[in-house]
Amino acid sequence: MKSAIYPGTFDPMTYGHLDIIKRAANIFDEVIVSVLDNKEKTPLFSVDERVKILRDVTADIPNVKIESFGGLLSDYCSEKNIFVVVRGLRAVTDFEYELQMSQMNRKLSNNKLDTVYLNTSLKYSYLSSSSVKQIAQFNGDLSDFVPDFVAEMLIERLGKKNQ
Ligand code: COA
Repeated sequence: MKSAIYPGTFDPMTYGHLDIIKRAANIFDEVIVSVLDNKEKTPLFSVDERVKILRDVTADIPNVKIESFGGLLSDYCSEKNIFVVVRGLRAVTDFEYELQMSQMNRKLSNNKLDTVYLNTSLKYSYLSSSSVKQIAQFNGDLSDFVPDFVAEMLIERLGKKNQ
């Protein structure tokens, strides 16, 4: 069975992430989407909330599992015995960061870990979790970017009337 891990902060997940998840699920037998418990960032949503959101949106994709992890991605991959990481590339600006991360992960895993890049679909190439949070602050229309229930959570936490 060919498995892959799609790691990220997912604060919150967007349709851009879902696009990558669906396409990875068509390529691999099993895709584990793993939410980083990132102590360096101050996320809007807790790890449990981010995991729950991802579980809800991927409930109809049988070969996708949602988990969380802390620490080094290479250690997490070794623990799971999975040595393929999936990442989305939105634009050339993502490339440098992704290349460096992939090379570091390869080094840390004694050359076991490979990263597979999927080009984010054009219609999501400008999308990011930060931009979605900014739009929510001004009660903007999020319907093209995140599922309705995620938009509601965002507006509830960040929207104008709640400031
Ligand atoms: N669609 C929409 N947005 C996308 C996207 C896509 N397909 N792909 C990336 N993004 C956006 C995210 O929304 C996010 O936006 P933001 O910066 O506005 O929040 C940004 O790109 C990056 O997010 P994400 O893909 O979640 O990656 P990350 O940089 O937060 O996390 C990890 C990357 C988790 C893989 C990495 O930090 C990691 O492995 N950490 C563990 C520690 C470790 O092992 N370090 C050593 C390796 S160098």
